[in-house]
Amino acid sequence: MRLLFLGDVVGRSGRAVVANLLPGLIERHRYDFVVVNGENAAGGFGITEETFLALINAGADCVTTGNHVWDQREALSFADRHDRFLRPVNYPRGTPGRGANVYAARNGARILVVNVMGQIFMPPLDDPFQAVTRELSACAIGNGCDGVVIDMHGEASSEKQTMAYYLDGKASLVIGTHTHVPTADWRILAGGTAFMTDVGMCGDYDSVIGMEKDEPLRRATTKIPSARFGPALGPGTISGLAVEIDDATGLARRVAPLRIGPGLPPAEPDFGETG
Ligand SMILES: [Fe+2]
Ligand SMILES: [Fe+2]
Repeated sequence: MRLLFLGDVVGRSGRAVVANLLPGLIERHRYDFVVVNGENAAGGFGITEETFLALINAGADCVTTGNHVWDQREALSFADRHDRFLRPVNYPRGTPGRGANVYAARNGARILVVNVMGQIFMPPLDDPFQAVTRELSACAIGNGCDGVVIDMHGEASSEKQTMAYYLDGKASLVIGTHTHVPTADWRILAGGTAFMTDVGMCGDYDSVIGMEKDEPLRRATTKIPSARFGPALGPGTISGLAVEIDDATGLARRVAPLRIGPGLPPAEPDFGETG
């Protein structure tokens, strides 16, 4: 089984590059399941129903989010209506939407996706380790699902790596989101879990983490906010991670980064014929 995870989609540039490239990538590489983090899809802050549906129409099987999930207030009302939409699972009880769900991949496999948020330098939600433990004890590989994807949305590399080792052997993929900068540490851990500290963003990399760079520069040098942050609108770059999963064990066999666009060194994983 082949899985693709795309990092935080930022604004119009991010949406355009995903809409333009994802359908062809799915066809070329026969991805069975695609997860896209969409927390910055609407103008860089949050996600509307329309932008959520655009990601689904481009080929996302599940859209995860993070700390920006409620920036567009309408997400509070559509979160309950769309089971392919996830917000971090460790929000307080009673929060709209869901933080985990099981989906059918194109090859028939059942994939559990859990969206969880870290606590370090982030709004303090419930313990992310307890939250994923609860989800995995309700649905584990071989006992309720055939593969597990964890979107660990966090600022601190250490916390994301800790989560990966905590789940090594229990998840197909633990992947970091939120920093909008891809790390060079994609690998398979000893227990068989694929991991990358941060998958980066889909958006305009000629920017400060996807935002038009004039205002960040002004604020840094004058200490006076003078305009709103807005997404950079230049050509977008797609950044993701492809994982080949052993159908028998649900664990990772191969892992490689995907980067297409002007802002990053190019990479397009080729796992060859289905194996
Ligand atoms: Fe983000
Ligand atoms: Fe975030």
